[in-house]
Amino acid sequence: MATHTGGLTLEKNKGRGLTLDQAVEVRGLTRKYDDRAVLDDLDLSIKPGEFVALLGKSGSGKSTLLRALAGLDYDVVGDGELAVPANVSVVFQDSRLLPWARVLDNVVLGLRRADERGRESLAEVGLAGREKAWPNELSGGEQQRVALARSLVREPALLLADEPFGALDALTRLKMHVLLRKLCAAHQPAVLLVTHDVDESIVLADRVIVLDEGRIVAEEPIELAEPRSPVDPGFAAVRSKLLDALGVSL
Ligand SMILES: Nc1ncnc2c1ncn2[C@@H]1O[C@H](COP(=O)(O)OP(=O)(O)OP(=O)(O)O)[C@@H](O)[C@H]1O
Ligand SMILES: [Mg+2]
Repeated sequence: MATHTGGLTLEKNKGRGLTLDQAVEVRGLTRKYDDRAVLDDLDLSIKPGEFVALLGKSGSGKSTLLRALAGLDYDVVGDGELAVPANVSVVFQDSRLLPWARVLDNVVLGLRRADERGRESLAEVGLAGREKAWPNELSGGEQQRVALARSLVREPALLLADEPFGALDALTRLKMHVLLRKLCAAHQPAVLLVTHDVDESIVLADRVIVLDEGRIVAEEPIELAEPRSPVDPGFAAVRSKLLDALGVSL
């Protein structure tokens, strides 16, 4: 396990100590922009292999939390403690593929002698045969599949995803849900998935948490039978609780 403390003062929780048997352990995490707390004394644990979806209004601090876990917020004033595995992969809303590198080279970027594994990962996301394509020759959904392959080829213990399907059409999004579930069953990373889509969170996650003004205001374990269907009454009941927590009344 690696503990990154970039940007943290650690004063508040000094000495409290973190248990490192979780994939994510966050204690008293605070992040401020111009004295405004975007994350406010947040605690969160994610078990190895657990899939957690994170919902919240725009501006509630979801991406800030993800950046903190990814170690990408070294320039931010903060406080608290966090621990994540050494091997973390991040997927964003846009695929962030390098346009000048072919698909396979994007997947194995920075890895040595990984072409075979890269090919296998591309096959897993349904893109066998597209190794030599340029990113701009792929559709948006295909580019996101390459981004998933690039993450999973690294066998991450923790996958952080910030609205990875947010820019995709509804049908492609549904296909990506099936694919992500399959990939998670095969590779079993812990996952923290940020999404605006309540149904997506219920279909995919073991647990859904709702962030509001930098605090977790609701938490729902999802124990529905597979396949999870939005027409199932249990699904509707969880959805209505989550929408309540998001301040949406129907
Ligand atoms: N670099 C920054 N400088 C100043 N304020 C920032 C910065 N980054 C984020 N913020 C503020 O922090 C708050 C939380 O931002 P964050 O990006 O975490 O929200 P979010 O929940 O991911 O929202 P969205 O759903 O729109 O992506 C917002 O009010 C935003 O304006
Ligand atoms: Mg965001």
